[in-house]
Amino acid sequence: MSKIILGIESSCDDTSAAIIKDGYLLSNIIANQEVHKAYGGVVPELASRAHQQNIIPVVDRAIKQAGINKEDITGIAFTRGPGLLGSLLVGTSFAKGFALVNNIPMVEVNHLQAHVLAHFIKEHDKENKQPKFPFLCLLVSGGHTQIIKVNDYFDMEIIGQTIDDAAGEAFDKCAKTIGLPYPGGPLIDKYAKEANPQAFHFNRPKIKDLDYSFSGLKTAFMYFVRDRIKENPDFVKDNRDDLCASIQFTIIDILLDKLKKAIKQTGIKEIAVAGGVSANSGLRKAMYDLGDKQKLNVYFPEFKFTTDNAAMIAITGYYKYLKGEFVGQDITPLARMPI
Ligand code: KG4
Ligand code: ZN
Repeated sequence: MSKIILGIESSCDDTSAAIIKDGYLLSNIIANQEVHKAYGGVVPELASRAHQQNIIPVVDRAIKQAGINKEDITGIAFTRGPGLLGSLLVGTSFAKGFALVNNIPMVEVNHLQAHVLAHFIKEHDKENKQPKFPFLCLLVSGGHTQIIKVNDYFDMEIIGQTIDDAAGEAFDKCAKTIGLPYPGGPLIDKYAKEANPQAFHFNRPKIKDLDYSFSGLKTAFMYFVRDRIKENPDFVKDNRDDLCASIQFTIIDILLDKLKKAIKQTGIKEIAVAGGVSANSGLRKAMYDLGDKQKLNVYFPEFKFTTDNAAMIAITGYYKYLKGEFVGQDITPLARMPI
């Protein structure tokens, strides 16, 4: 019998539902929440309210677009954590109700594992190059920055991580400093395209082992911009694109420095990148260049699977479903949840 999984994602500010049938994606619907733009970041209480409004229409569209009936669904997978508790509660409660009414098993999913396993989403009529185990995964999102040694689907080991801010946070906070709306990462990427990455220099953090730090860079950028504005009130307006290119270049340089060390230490040549920041075009280019130079196999998920989506939750749920790893109605979401 076919295994049809409904995936639900609600850990932050995207409400998403997806259907995966025997490992192949049939639909992936995402409702973004515009409400946070005015506040320069995600407001947790507004996020959970928006999830409540979005969840039923999003699931309905995912089922319709997949061309199935809700009775065909054999399991429901949901993000248990990590994330905003109020947001996670909406997806978890929905999953419980859906599982109960339709008498199907429930599978809990770790959002971070799902970002990594986004590499295994298959689509009909599309070639999908999957990393081979063991591989290294640079997971770069708004909340996390980690180098993970992935031994198997659910055997993941963090070998380096940020001690403060995440790379996505650095993008967003620097963007905010120069007046760009949230989330600023994609805008920095856009404005950096034709600009000079060497225009402004920012110091790299000195952190031990394979760990990262981005909070010093964010502060240095803030003070740099503040001081330049004192000399020229139009400094940001005159230099927006070069500022974007320079900060993007610095963030990528920091990310690659530790990743290169991890590659050397482990000898692993299969390298994947995942999470929202893996959408960044500069990071993609830098990684493919590194791959050519060091004879590495480099993998990026398709753009639509880089930022938060339920397709990655459904594929992770599918693999857990095959192993029979189900949870009961007493399951609760977790704001913190190690990989
Ligand atoms: O994975 P994600 O959707 O949510 C979390 O789990 O955090 O990642 C969101 C992050 C945000 O910080 C956003 O600015 C960043 O990914 N991001 C980008 C780009 N697209 C999304 N950062 C740089 N360049 C991009 N093109
Ligand atoms: Zn995420």
